[in-house]
Amino acid sequence: MAKAPKKPAASAVVDRNNPKLSLWNFWVSCTLLKLLLIPGYFSTDFDVHRNWLAITNKLPLKEWYFESTSQWTLDYPPFFAYFEWILSQFVSKAVREDGCLDIVAVGKFGFPTVLFQRLTVIASEVMLFVVLQIYINKSQMAERSANFVVASSIVLSPGFLMIDHIHFQYNGFLFAILIASILAAKHQRYLLCGFFFTTALCFKHIFLYLAPSFFVFLLRVYVLDFSNFQFKSYNDLISIVQWKNLFKLGSVVLSVLAVCFAPFVRDWSQVLKRLFPFSRGLTHAYWAPNFWALYSLLDKVLTLIILKVPCVHGFLTQFIAPPLIPATIEEINWKIQQYNVGTKGLVQDVYFVILPQIQPKLTFFLTLFYQILAVIPVLFSPSFKRFVGSLTLCGFASFLFGWHVHEKAIMLVIIPFSFLVTSDRRLLTPFHLLVSAGYVSLFPLLHESQDFLLKLLYTLVWMIIYSFALRQVTKMSSSVQRRVFFFDRFALFYIVMLVPMVFGVQLLEALKWRYAVLQKFEFAGLMIYSIYCSIGVLSSWVGLSWLYNFDEPLWM
Ligand SMILES: *[C@@H]1O[C@H](CO)[C@@H](O)[C@H](O)[C@H]1NC(C)=O
Repeated sequence: MAKAPKKPAASAVVDRNNPKLSLWNFWVSCTLLKLLLIPGYFSTDFDVHRNWLAITNKLPLKEWYFESTSQWTLDYPPFFAYFEWILSQFVSKAVREDGCLDIVAVGKFGFPTVLFQRLTVIASEVMLFVVLQIYINKSQMAERSANFVVASSIVLSPGFLMIDHIHFQYNGFLFAILIASILAAKHQRYLLCGFFFTTALCFKHIFLYLAPSFFVFLLRVYVLDFSNFQFKSYNDLISIVQWKNLFKLGSVVLSVLAVCFAPFVRDWSQVLKRLFPFSRGLTHAYWAPNFWALYSLLDKVLTLIILKVPCVHGFLTQFIAPPLIPATIEEINWKIQQYNVGTKGLVQDVYFVILPQIQPKLTFFLTLFYQILAVIPVLFSPSFKRFVGSLTLCGFASFLFGWHVHEKAIMLVIIPFSFLVTSDRRLLTPFHLLVSAGYVSLFPLLHESQDFLLKLLYTLVWMIIYSFALRQVTKMSSSVQRRVFFFDRFALFYIVMLVPMVFGVQLLEALKWRYAVLQKFEFAGLMIYSIYCSIGVLSSWVGLSWLYNFDEPLWM
């Protein structure tokens, strides 16, 4: 009885330590903002998704991947097509009459269609909030507030705001599935992890970039068992495999794939052709801030130097044989003319004047090489942290070296990294470099000047809030504090200089109508963006790789 009065006090203590960490407030406030953005600018991706609504609604399933009235053909895997079909069932009569479900070359639609589609993005994004709330609810007391900061940084991410709610895509919902698979891995629900990741893949195959990490992790923790392993003969190798688990995992993965692709088995080659259009150029309409942006810059600088100072060319040809470098100045001029013809297309094909052209094969091997480097440590110590680290590095490798990378793919790096960053203070610097450069590199997606202040202010406020909030909840390094002063200072300087860079480019755009000289450099603004941002993304990759490979205690 003596203990009875203490009970309320104890629960009060628990309540103070266990505040209701809910994302509900964030959902209300950001949904209000997103509703305000409904009438605003949207990109051609809007008509892409409208066309898919029309195709899936009007045509029998067999024809979905053959339809080509519009140039925006269906090029996501079948789960996404089913998703569009479900959405199209909710199209009301007014929206239908507005032209939402017409299969035409270029959509003719008005506000009702815009309202409908924007609302589907907002509604499907609820998944992201639910998954992250589960992440917070299931986390242990010690890491609860840190996880809350991480979860809120994701739901408030300027990336999702810009890409989904202005530019128009469904990333919030798609990343919810990816995050679900990461959570399943965290709670050692490996079958669920395989299920969610395969599902995510069947919605959007860009998640293939992360597949090596999932594959190796699940193989190591679920299928292989080294605990009783002693190598005496080759038969022992077979005993490592836990056949029952392999069978269970295999059937989960295969049944998801079967549900997704079975209706299209007969037309598999057509579906593949749509999903992997390798005829596209090395860089997207504008250069993603990756390694190839710097490669292009080097080519441009070399061309300029050689044209201005011809003796440099003479000097270079003494060392490098002609097929590797244009033999004469005339050939360079001719190539530049060719190049100018090449830039007019829908998707630009970048053509290098001095440096060797890049083949898809090379980008593929480079990506694979760095991904293999990232997953090997998972084989040796398959902790959850290692896994998320390798996931982030796989995203990095494909973003930096991949073929035809979209600037939006940076979310594939930022989201896994978010689940890692609070585990050690030294990870903060590469993380801040990545998010600042990554989010700023999305700015050119929204080129209307009315969005300028919104994207800049929103990103700036997000950066400031989360650079403090993450520092608050992040553990100090477990090992001896070896602060890399130079890297921290460089990162701070780099991040601060993003602001003048953004303003400078905006000024350049604003003055274009006034000075004819500026019109000659039409792509200068985009180039400055992708080059400056690629420096940030590359440095972040180097910083994280360093910690990943040379700091064992961090990953235990
Ligand atoms: C999270 O926990 C709160 C109570 O602490 C509960 O009200 C809420 O429904 C939970 N959310 C989810 C998504 O599990």
